[in-house]
Amino acid sequence: MTDLQDLILHRRSIRKFKDRLLTFEEKRAILCSALVAPSSKNRRPCRLVLVEDREMINKLIRCKLIGTLPLETATWVLVVVADPTQSEAWIEDASIAAAFAQLQAEDLGLGSCWVQVRGRDYDEETSSSEYIKKLLEIPSQMEVECLLAFGEKDEERKPYSAEKLQIDKIHLNKWQHRPAWIEKTMTY
Ligand SMILES: Cc1cc2nc3c(=O)[nH]c(=O)nc-3n(C[C@H](O)[C@H](O)[C@H](O)COP(=O)(O)O)c2cc1C
Repeated sequence: MTDLQDLILHRRSIRKFKDRLLTFEEKRAILCSALVAPSSKNRRPCRLVLVEDREMINKLIRCKLIGTLPLETATWVLVVVADPTQSEAWIEDASIAAAFAQLQAEDLGLGSCWVQVRGRDYDEETSSSEYIKKLLEIPSQMEVECLLAFGEKDEERKPYSAEKLQIDKIHLNKWQHRPAWIEKTMTY
């Protein structure tokens, strides 16, 4: 178990993975973290479809034209699905569940990358979400938020630095206010 701040600084999107399959324990921990993420009104509209079959992952790659590189070597893919009829906050719920899963993967020393599906297109007539729903036989009222690619890291990425935060993105009380103490306490 690592220090949470350190874990957050070290998490980077990983798009190249080794062949090793995830263990049962690793999968269990990632799923557990996704399932206990905060949920608006505790409605819990999310569903997770696990895809481990290489041929099926290859079919998922076709869901959109760009941005699917992480799926090419991922050994485990989570399809993050939600039911908009169950909650108007399904996008937020699905996103938080996905982020929890990614942080859990980092804590296990694994790599992960978010592959956006919502708002993306398979072709002129079909959205990426519709393509995936047909492929995986997901009920029509569901929506696909993203695909999460997981695996053992096969690339190194520099961690973020607590010394180089974008503190200009932080405002105090009013938009124009950014008092000196923020600079003093947020920079080292
Ligand atoms: C909503 C969202 C959509 C993303 N979509 C993709 C994607 O389709 N393909 C991809 O390779 N990375 C995708 N990413 C990963 C981002 O490119 C990445 O988080 C960003 O470049 C910052 O890098 P970092 O994750 O290493 O901090 C997405 C991330 C988010 C949060």
